[in-house]
Amino acid sequence: MEILYYLAVLVVLLKCIYTEDIVIDLSKATVIRTLGPRFIGFTLDSSVIQNRWETFKPNSSRVLTLSTALAPAYFRVGGTGADFLIFNNSLNIQPGNEDKNYTFTESDWDMLNDFVKSSGWELIFDLNIFLRSNGHWNATNALQLFNYSIEKGYKPAGFELGNELNVFPQFNVTAAQSVYDFGNLKHILSSLPELGAPLILGPDVNSLDGGSLTFMDLFLKLGGANIVDIITYHHYYVPGTKATVEAFHNISLLESLRPQLKAAVALARKYCPEKPIWLGETSSSYGRQVDSLSYMYVASFMWLDKLGMAAQLGIDAVIRQSFYGPDDGVITLQLDPSNDFWVTYLHKQLVGTTVLNISRGLNENIRIYAHCTNIPSTTDYTKGSVTLILMNLGPTDVNIIIQGVERSNSDIYMLSPGDDQGLQSKSLKLNGNLLKLTDSGELPPLPVQSTTGPITLPTNNIAFVVLPDALKSECMI
Ligand SMILES: *[C@@H]1O[C@H](CO)[C@@H](O)[C@H](O)[C@H]1NC(C)=O
Ligand SMILES: *[C@@H]1O[C@H](CO)[C@@H](O)[C@H](O)[C@H]1NC(C)=O
Ligand SMILES: *[C@@H]1O[C@H](CO)[C@@H](O)[C@H](O)[C@H]1NC(C)=O
Ligand SMILES: *[C@@H]1O[C@H](CO)[C@@H](O)[C@H](O)[C@H]1NC(C)=O
Ligand SMILES: *[C@@H]1O[C@H](CO)[C@@H](O)[C@H](O)[C@H]1NC(C)=O
Ligand SMILES: *[C@@H]1O[C@H](CO)[C@@H](O)[C@H](O)[C@H]1NC(C)=O
Ligand SMILES: *[C@@H]1O[C@H](CO)[C@@H](O)[C@H](O)[C@H]1NC(C)=O
Ligand SMILES: *[C@@H]1O[C@H](CO)[C@@H](O)[C@H](O)[C@H]1NC(C)=O
Repeated sequence: MEILYYLAVLVVLLKCIYTEDIVIDLSKATVIRTLGPRFIGFTLDSSVIQNRWETFKPNSSRVLTLSTALAPAYFRVGGTGADFLIFNNSLNIQPGNEDKNYTFTESDWDMLNDFVKSSGWELIFDLNIFLRSNGHWNATNALQLFNYSIEKGYKPAGFELGNELNVFPQFNVTAAQSVYDFGNLKHILSSLPELGAPLILGPDVNSLDGGSLTFMDLFLKLGGANIVDIITYHHYYVPGTKATVEAFHNISLLESLRPQLKAAVALARKYCPEKPIWLGETSSSYGRQVDSLSYMYVASFMWLDKLGMAAQLGIDAVIRQSFYGPDDGVITLQLDPSNDFWVTYLHKQLVGTTVLNISRGLNENIRIYAHCTNIPSTTDYTKGSVTLILMNLGPTDVNIIIQGVERSNSDIYMLSPGDDQGLQSKSLKLNGNLLKLTDSGELPPLPVQSTTGPITLPTNNIAFVVLPDALKSECMI
């Protein structure tokens, strides 16, 4: 027993004096693929409209400050509630119960369209597929919405039809039947050029386990591949009931996304190699929770890891559930920016569309993603710069040593918990400064720290690192 004790003491001592070096060799980094400028988008759960917008004020200057900071982006209004949502100016308000029909009005539709326009975003709307007659989708209500949109000059970027049909067998919309219904939607949209040729997205199945994969396979095989412009599926790591700090911090859980992304992309490539595939609705855990982990520091690892992995593996857009929400919003019920707002904001500012492949090394606890730097951005970085996304989920600090670039000076944007709650902190520090809006409600400047030496990445820290003088030829174009 004594030997074990001394061994333990030795391990602790070694950890103190020995900090592992993680070498990132950028000379070997190749371009994997290039994303569009709207890689990160946001959802609004249809239930927010059902609940008469809750505390969300899409035309308030506070919300618009935050939304414009994240432009350009797609804004997808959808979710379970979409299939109970009926366009009608007679309000039928049934707050709180997602399984009852309810109505949205012309002024609701105006609010959504005004919001995306003011934000520099684009609207994607999930139509109600459970309006049915004789076994088929009844498009009359959608036509009323389209007619009104034409009257007002709205040009939505896209439409979906139904949400996670594979988990609602009671509605009896099979993959084959939904292909038929999507075909009807395509036919209608092609007859309404005034709408500006909105995209069709689907089938919006839920996380790709057995059943949903079968549904998506059938949907694409039976003709869906020729109908949709963008293939969509949803992803959550765990149900809310299994959302714990330990689970969210678990590399195995982060890695559980990888085979799902590969399976989804392989399926899309099989039936329609040229069409984009999106994570059309995604967050850390599903099911509303009382005290959501998604607002806590630990959730930002999942969000950033998902963005990095999705970009590498062939996903064209990641639509975050949700922009506003009680448990996973990038803005909170109080319309304050959450941790993931800041993480997303930094990502949008600093991370460009060219995805680089760097070898990950052996330490899985150190998550590393690399892109060319976003140019132009509100920062003054120039072409050739590289942005690294680094996360340390391991128990000890590490040294990041960057090799294979012209000059190895780095601009560090180091994120750490905003208070002593650690992984459960609901605030963030950037280079030691608490991130919050200024007293006048503006976005704060982003303080940067520059160094020419190795970068210490403390345990549980997240860093965006820009290499402004990398002169990486892949990033010069
Ligand atoms: C990325 O790098 C890894 C390891 O160097 C390699 O196995 C893989 O094929 C590369 N992928 C791409 C898309 O270049
Ligand atoms: C926002 O919209 C609501 C409802 O349409 C309206 O009452 C309010 O005055 C608007 N606020 C602003 C700041 O435009
Ligand atoms: C709108 O709702 C009212 C009241 O429920 C109903 O009478 C009317 O038929 C509905 N209109 C349409 C176009 O569905
Ligand atoms: C909701 O609307 C659909 C389509 O009109 C109808 O078939 C269904 O019975 C309604 N459900 C409820 C709970 O009112
Ligand atoms: C579709 O729904 C509308 C409104 O509810 C109804 O008037 C119409 O008859 C339905 N169409 C079919 C083909 O049943
Ligand atoms: C389900 O729909 C199919 C046709 O789409 C129909 O033949 C069948 O009777 C329906 N089943 C139920 C339980 O409604
Ligand atoms: C939509 O507008 C067209 C052209 O004005 C009209 O013929 C059609 O009846 C309208 N459809 C609905 C469902 O209101
Ligand atoms: C992480 O998750 C895996 C798979 O669910 C599990 O086997 C492992 O025990 C977990 N590790 C920790 C530290 O909780």
